[in-house]
Amino acid sequence: MKHTVVMTGASRGIGRVAAEHILRRSPNTHVLVVARQSAGTRLAAELATGGHTVSHVPADLGSLGSVRRAATEIRDRLDRGDLPPLRGFVGNAGIQYTNALTEGPDGLEATFTVNVLANHLVVRLLQDRFAAPARIVITVSDTRFGDFKHNMGMVPGPAWKSPDALSHTGAFPEPGTTAAGRTAYSTSKLAAIYLVHEYASRLPAGIDAVAYNPGFVLGTSRAPTGSYVDRGRAARSSEESYDERREGELWEATERFTAA
Ligand SMILES: NC(=O)c1ccc[n+]([C@@H]2O[C@H](COP(=O)([O-])OP(=O)(O)OC[C@H]3O[C@@H](n4cnc5c(N)ncnc54)[C@H](OP(=O)(O)O)[C@@H]3O)[C@@H](O)[C@H]2O)c1
Repeated sequence: MKHTVVMTGASRGIGRVAAEHILRRSPNTHVLVVARQSAGTRLAAELATGGHTVSHVPADLGSLGSVRRAATEIRDRLDRGDLPPLRGFVGNAGIQYTNALTEGPDGLEATFTVNVLANHLVVRLLQDRFAAPARIVITVSDTRFGDFKHNMGMVPGPAWKSPDALSHTGAFPEPGTTAAGRTAYSTSKLAAIYLVHEYASRLPAGIDAVAYNPGFVLGTSRAPTGSYVDRGRAARSSEESYDERREGELWEATERFTAA
């Protein structure tokens, strides 16, 4: 049966390959790409080649107002019956800066906004429009291990702080440096895992949420809700990734940051 998968970060890189793969493997999927205006129209046309069903809703994920408008438009299209039932959201877009000082239009740090808050806002605004069985997949990274084995020591591991600190510029020492920008990135991916755990416990049965580490081919792996999927199989994440106190605190803060 025809169904909709909403996807961010499909314009290039891993997301582009994943979108093409989804359309090839599951021709009944309507892929709705959420992408910047400049890229989205052309991207949708390119992905539709060969008779696939693809549409585009514009958004700059660094702006919460823009994300809200996009999610509202998707809700409206679902409600009007312009889209088949919603069965998936792939929050794949991600960004890394060479500093921890980049501020977006909401006055919040840009890495945290794109990698954490934008996904959260889409999930929350679409949560009652998913038709079970449905799945939310958030792209994370093994940078949060912060060790040589996982990323050859190129990215420092996360440095957790209160969500209020993490959501603002200058959260890390020497914030103008590349190391601080990378720390913001790895910390944002840890935050994304915490929120996946929250989605898994809060969303209704049949709407699963998983965090996946790239290398994994989307849509082929069976994994219980709340899983960390590492290159195609459910695995245990870093010990730090399981922390109910931080998860609850982050949930409360992201709700506050993304409130209308
Ligand atoms: N590459 C790796 O080795 C690696 C490893 C671990 C995890 N990851 C994660 O995997 C995901 C994809 O990585 P990638 O390397 O394939 O990324 P990429 O090639 O850098 O592409 C990033 C994607 O995110 C979109 N994006 C970024 N900021 C945006 C914004 N403000 N508004 C709208 N779209 C925005 C980009 O759209 P535009 O084309 O408009 O910029 C693009 O589609 C990310 O979440 C990344 O953190 C990557």
